[in-house]
Amino acid sequence: MKRIPEPFRIKMVEPIKMTTREERVKALEEAGYNPFLLKSDDVYIDLLTDSGTGAMSDYQWAGMMMGDEAYAGSRNYFNLQKSVDHFFRYKYVVPTHQGRGAEQILFPALINRMRDVRGGDKPVFISNFHFDTTAAHVEMNGAKAINVVTEKAFDTTTYDDWKGDFDLQKLEDEIAKHGAKNVAAIITTVTCNSSGGQPISLANMRAVYEIAQKNDIPVVIDSARYCENAYFIKQREKGYENHSITDIIREMYTYGDMLTMSAKKDPLVNIGGMCAIREKEELFRAVRTLCVPMEGFVTYGGLAGRDMEALARGMHEGADEDFLHYRISQVKYLGDRLMEGGVPIQYPTGGHAVFVDARKILPHIPGDQFPAQALCNALYLEAGVRPVEIGSFLLGRDPETGKQKEAPLELVRLTIPRRVYTNDHMDYIADALIDVAKNADKLKGFEFEYEPPVLRHFTARLKPIK
Ligand code: F0G
Repeated sequence: MKRIPEPFRIKMVEPIKMTTREERVKALEEAGYNPFLLKSDDVYIDLLTDSGTGAMSDYQWAGMMMGDEAYAGSRNYFNLQKSVDHFFRYKYVVPTHQGRGAEQILFPALINRMRDVRGGDKPVFISNFHFDTTAAHVEMNGAKAINVVTEKAFDTTTYDDWKGDFDLQKLEDEIAKHGAKNVAAIITTVTCNSSGGQPISLANMRAVYEIAQKNDIPVVIDSARYCENAYFIKQREKGYENHSITDIIREMYTYGDMLTMSAKKDPLVNIGGMCAIREKEELFRAVRTLCVPMEGFVTYGGLAGRDMEALARGMHEGADEDFLHYRISQVKYLGDRLMEGGVPIQYPTGGHAVFVDARKILPHIPGDQFPAQALCNALYLEAGVRPVEIGSFLLGRDPETGKQKEAPLELVRLTIPRRVYTNDHMDYIADALIDVAKNADKLKGFEFEYEPPVLRHFTARLKPIK
């Protein structure tokens, strides 16, 4: 198995604590068997998320010293605008505090436009897959979130290049069912986080955009991991082997009218986001109007000048091909080691994480006893590694019947922060999880000690089933 060496050297280090099993048993009990409630100090390797957890470069930190903290018209805003123009060729930029900030100012504007310009009255959004907060913002605005990702995404064992693709037939069927005038927007999520950080092909993005144009529906590109998606296109899509990452990104964004972005992922900053619009000026005006009361004045949107500078610079580093080669290879290396050790994962590995198929490892624990959560907890106890559950525990109950919803997959996400952990850390994680999986028949499920009514997975407390 090939390890690609890190394309950086280390100038500053952050010590992390090695804990004993005894300490971890106590910490997990205090956290109500919910890794979200662990203190980060009690975690050795933190794989909860790749969001805002990356390491900035010396060039980005130098940019932090160049912050222009003017309330209006900061020079860093114009630098950000330049980076956006360079990669996306979109004219209008509104910075936001993070991805969900962009969602909260764009979606109401899209729904109003659907009503006023296109005559709809029952708004829906259709996506390959809405991320949790994206779906939440759709629903908070009284609209429905519909996912039409390819069926192949749910078959974890069969290789497919494009498990993030839209099922185009389903997309057309949903448009016909709800009526094009009611589709406030189509959201193309790159990469598709919910199916395992899986890429979407340019061919599919193009086809989605054609369907959208035919029906006069705007397309939003949810852009948390656009560089990783572009790298997969270069690796896998015929005809793009010799294109630069920048050119591929530029083509991707011709298949959208606007973007929302959580800049905490690919652009390598700890906080930040944006909404950008290709040319629809009236929509830009509507978004700006919402930005002022929700996020802040339109040239800072919840960010300090220095944050915008780090972002403007990070966008270039995140799209660097040598960096992406190392990044995607590191995630693949962890996935390969796990597969070799008999641990079933979503195959092939995606961009930002390895998704472990907990249902296959723990067939004796039913969904409503949270097998993936049981596996997360076991890995923490074994090695101080904190992963995150993406399964029944996260999914929650049907609001009408109160019954636990059935998750299509019970997954454990090992999310890899950017430029933070070395390849030796990957070996350590793999060895620990392989050991845990070997003794999986002894693991038990969990039940609630405290269950909050909404978004329960963040604060719920559990206890092991005896
Ligand atoms: N869209 C996608 C595809 C995401 O993965 C996220 C966040 C967001 C939007 C929201 O952005 O967090 O900056 O407000 N994903 C993180 C994760 C939290 O862990 O996958 P945000």
